[in-house]
Amino acid sequence: MDYKYTSRSENDTMALAENIESEKFPGMVICLDGELGSGKTVFVKGLAKALGISENITSPTFNIVKEYEEGEMPLNHMDVYRIEETDSTIGFNDYFSGTGITIIEWAELIKDKLPDERLELKFKVIDENTRVIFLKPFGQKYEDLVNYVL
Ligand SMILES: Nc1ncnc2c1ncn2[C@@H]1O[C@H](COP(=O)(O)OP(=O)(O)OP(=O)(O)O)[C@@H](O)[C@H]1O
Ligand SMILES: [Mg+2]
Repeated sequence: MDYKYTSRSENDTMALAENIESEKFPGMVICLDGELGSGKTVFVKGLAKALGISENITSPTFNIVKEYEEGEMPLNHMDVYRIEETDSTIGFNDYFSGTGITIIEWAELIKDKLPDERLELKFKVIDENTRVIFLKPFGQKYEDLVNYVL
């Protein structure tokens, strides 16, 4: 089943992230896709804020993954837009099976490495301030989460 959320502002996107954070569990994996400037990093900022992370969130372009330890749960923020074959040494499975939350911008680029159970969010730009966010849960835990949050 696919679900859809219409965000009319940056704050709306942050609010969706905060609601999802409230249903967090260890090993949670959230995959973000959608064109440049569609709001993926804004969503990560909302999630980080809800976790109590005060550090400014910027995309980890050159090192692919940034780990934030100061919140209620560890947050691993990946941006795989510039991933290359040589980055295959990144221990994705260690992140996916760890105690933290892993959130991945441009996750489609590593789709063969993603765990079977995950939440996918696809961002679509409608106009300057409007985004439609399609939510696709894989696995019962994520189905329940989406039903609770929307
Ligand atoms: N409803 C909305 N939700 C999220 N961002 C919005 C919204 N409306 C306008 N914006 C603006 O869109 C931009 C989204 O930027 P953001 O860096 O989050 O995009 P991104 O998807 O991470 O891009 P990239 O692929 O380059 O990493 C911001 O400038 C934000 O203010
Ligand atoms: Mg981004």
